Amino acid sequence: MQFKNFLLAASAAVTATALPAGSDSACKAPGGGETAAETFGVVSIHSGSAVQYAPFNAALSSIFAGLSSQNASCARPDEQTATFYIKDGSLYLYDKSATPQQLYVDRSGMGQGKIGYTTGAQPPPRNAEREGWAIDANNHLQFGGSDLIACPNSIDRAWSIWANAGVENPGFNEGCVGIAARVEKTNDPNGCVYTQ
Ligand SMILES: *[C@@H]1O[C@H](CO)[C@@H](O)[C@H](O)[C@H]1NC(C)=O
Repeated sequence: MQFKNFLLAASAAVTATALPAGSDSACKAPGGGETAAETFGVVSIHSGSAVQYAPFNAALSSIFAGLSSQNASCARPDEQTATFYIKDGSLYLYDKSATPQQLYVDRSGMGQGKIGYTTGAQPPPRNAEREGWAIDANNHLQFGGSDLIACPNSIDRAWSIWANAGVENPGFNEGCVGIAARVEKTNDPNGCVYTQ
């Protein structure tokens, strides 16, 4: 009897010391998932270029930098920048609603590195890849281990944002530049539904 009590006490002590570390990391994940999906905005970095410090926007199922107006439906409508999160290598636009807007990349000969996003159950184009997004050790958003590309003279004088598919000037653009897509984490993300 005494020996059994000792065993119970011993296992309880082990459980007590083991619990805090485990429950700590599990409870801190927002949304209750096992991995915390951190939300972030992105700023373009290419010193000496007009795209320097232009924030990323999402509109018309595409990603831009330096758009003055996204025309999105947002919790804070005055903000004109896009908010992202990465889950399992896939990149999403942040919103509180359950309808996801998920990014894809088309590195085929047709797509040339086109970045777009789908809304809800909308299927991605045939050659689209959805996984391969990551934040590197320098805090830059990359796809397939490569930095992104910005091309000038898109709509409203903004830049269009492309993935690197080995095409220097994708989509028949001119004057494109490689950028570092600097990640700026936020604890207070602006939920938006972006235009399709
Ligand atoms: C936003 O709406 C304005 C006014 O209709 C339009 O001029 C502009 O091109 C739109 N921008 C985008 C990114 O859709």
